[in-house]
Amino acid sequence: MKKTVLVIFGGKSSEYSVALRSAAYVIDNIDRHDYDVLTMGVTDTGNWLYCTCPTSKIADGSWVDTDCSRAMISPDPNGHYLLVESDEELMRIPFDVVFPVMHGRNGEDGTIQGFLTMAGIPFVGCGMTSSALCMDKAFTNLIARANGVNEADWLVFKKGEYEKDPENCVKRVTEELEYPVFVKPAIGGSSVGISKVADGSGLAAAFENAFAEDGKVVVETGINAREVECAVLGGAVPRASGVGEIVAADEFYDYNSKYVADSKLSIPADIGEEHTQEIRALALKLFDALDCEGMARVDFFIGKDDGKVYFNEINTIPGFTSISMYPKLFAKTGMSGQELIGSLIRTAFRRSNER
Ligand SMILES: Nc1ncnc2c1ncn2[C@@H]1O[C@H](COP(=O)(O)OP(=O)(O)O)[C@@H](O)[C@H]1O
Ligand SMILES: [Mg+2]
Repeated sequence: MKKTVLVIFGGKSSEYSVALRSAAYVIDNIDRHDYDVLTMGVTDTGNWLYCTCPTSKIADGSWVDTDCSRAMISPDPNGHYLLVESDEELMRIPFDVVFPVMHGRNGEDGTIQGFLTMAGIPFVGCGMTSSALCMDKAFTNLIARANGVNEADWLVFKKGEYEKDPENCVKRVTEELEYPVFVKPAIGGSSVGISKVADGSGLAAAFENAFAEDGKVVVETGINAREVECAVLGGAVPRASGVGEIVAADEFYDYNSKYVADSKLSIPADIGEEHTQEIRALALKLFDALDCEGMARVDFFIGKDDGKVYFNEINTIPGFTSISMYPKLFAKTGMSGQELIGSLIRTAFRRSNER
């Protein structure tokens, strides 16, 4: 019998609008010969709404103004139902698997994954613990270090510690790292709350900016580098794509250069065979070390001064817009969007059978 995929998109996150564009791509690429599709959006204030509108309205954000109904997922593991409010009643709509297309907080960070696990619902992508670890750059950095993966030097600061003694935090950065530094919220994405700081005088504003997003901040030595990314597709044996390069339109790959200005992707990256193989192997190593399943995009720097590869971060629900690196890297290997999405959904079912 044909299975039903429930795509949950959006989310209460600074990356809400990016997630809408990713969702449109995912929904459009689910093969309707194999699956029926239901769509439920989560607004940026956290309302769960069942909707049936075309994907163009999801992508541009106008889906909330269409005929949506309040909805929720039953946490009861003995049957997977969407409970939709209709004329004072609750309508039960069954489904088989969830594809969460939510970036950042409340979606990519283990929260929805924990809920779906409790409800016994198969879902696409990394599990709860892996999602939470990969979302938090301080924990990701620790696990990478424990596995001997090269990274920029970093320090972690808690908001309370900073508020008590900001001068000491600035002093530690100046003594233990090298300028320029990058100041980032531990939990974030799409470069929201991230600043590049040339010297100690810019640190206070950068800390404020990052603490507005999260109570924990990571400060890293800035690497003068090329930025490259590798996609991993899980399954019985996870496979790494080739490597793509980001050529940022701005000073660094900030929100504007990701989604507004004209940053370029170069696939495959013109970095030579040795770097390519090193990065693919590292991507698989980190995917395994962080217990990833299904999918992840692993991001690296190649130092322009030393030629060394540095791990930057990992994204467990990578961008899936039509111009995103993750689908493009697999397209280069001959895999269409439909094949990629189909493979991710099959992996979700297989994993739930293994549990
Ligand atoms: N240590 C670093 N050295 C050089 N550039 C960095 C460093 N950390 C971050 N950046 C720049 O900032 C961008 C966003 O940082 P990143 O850690 O990837 O956060 P996000 O999760 O928001 O994408 C990177 O793509 C890169 O351009
Ligand atoms: Mg990034």
